[in-house]
Amino acid sequence: MHNGLRLMCPVCGEELQEDEHRLFCLKKGHSFDKARQGYVNLLPVQNKHSLSPGDTKEMLSARRSFLDSGSYEPVCRTVADTIKKYSPSSSPVLADIGCGEGYYTAFFRKYCNASCVGIDISKNGARMACSRDRNILWLVATASRLPLCDGSVDVLCAMFSLFLPDEYARVLKKGGCAVEVTVGTEHLIELKSIIYDEVFEQHKHPAPCGELFDEAECREYKYKLTLNNGELRALLLMTPHFWRIRREKREQLEATEELTLTVHYWVRALIRK
Ligand SMILES: C[S@@+](CC[C@H](N)C(=O)[O-])C[C@H]1O[C@@H](n2cnc3c(N)ncnc32)[C@H](O)[C@@H]1O
Repeated sequence: MHNGLRLMCPVCGEELQEDEHRLFCLKKGHSFDKARQGYVNLLPVQNKHSLSPGDTKEMLSARRSFLDSGSYEPVCRTVADTIKKYSPSSSPVLADIGCGEGYYTAFFRKYCNASCVGIDISKNGARMACSRDRNILWLVATASRLPLCDGSVDVLCAMFSLFLPDEYARVLKKGGCAVEVTVGTEHLIELKSIIYDEVFEQHKHPAPCGELFDEAECREYKYKLTLNNGELRALLLMTPHFWRIRREKREQLEATEELTLTVHYWVRALIRK
C-alpha cells in the first residue's frame, strides 16, 4: 500500500489493497476509484449526512490563501516539533484528520520525514489538497469511522479539527502519539470584538482525553499577527464568523487596511496506552 499505510474498507472493515486505479478489498470486492486528481473517496453514502459535508470550496480557497501568507507558520512549526518530540519513529506513519486543503499535512511530511495520509470529510478539501503534495494519500472519509486499520498509525494530528478519543485510539499503535491543536480563549479576540457587540469570555481548554491516553504535554502558545486587508478578508471567509457577521461590520472589516490580532492556541500530545 501507498507509503506503508494500512487502510481499512469503510464498508466491511477488511484491509484494502491498491492497484494503479483503485483501492479494493479482496474478500467482498468493494472498490474505490482514484480520482483524476489523485484522492480516493472512502465515504460511503450511509456515513454522509449532507450532500456536500465539511468546508465549502469558498472556505477552502480562503483558507489556502490565508495559510499561504505564512500567518500560521509558527503554529505549524510548534506542532511539527511536538510531533518529532513524541513520535515513536523517526519516519512515522502520520494521519492528519480534518486536514482541509492540506497545508499542515504537507509541512509535516517534509519536516517530520513522515509517510502521510490526509483525511477530510470534504471532497473539495481532498481535491484541493492533491495540488499541495502528490506524495501524500488524500482521502475523503469521516473521522468517526476512519478507514485505517487498528494500531496502524504512529502519529495522528487533529489541527483545529474534531477529537474523537475512542476512534483515534483504535488506529494508533501502542506508544503512538495523538497531537491535538485547539484554539485558546484569546484567539482572534480583536476580530471577535469588532464582529460581535458582546464577546463572552469562554474559557477554552482542551477537553479530558479519556482512559486510553496519557497526557505527555499540554501547552498554550500566543503571538501577535498583523494582517493586511487581503489577509483579513481571507481569514474572515475561512471562519464560521463570516456566516454570523452583520453587513455593516463586514463592510467595516473589508475597508480595514491593517489589523493586529492575537493568535492563541493549545497543543496537546497524548500517548496511546
Ligand atoms: C477548521 S477546519 C481545519 C482544517 C485544517 N486542519 C486546518 O487547520 O487548516 C476543520 C476541517 O475538518 C473537516 N471535518 C469536519 N467534520 C469532519 C468529520 N466528521 N470527519 C473528517 N473531517 C471533518 C472540515 O471539512 C474541515 O476541513
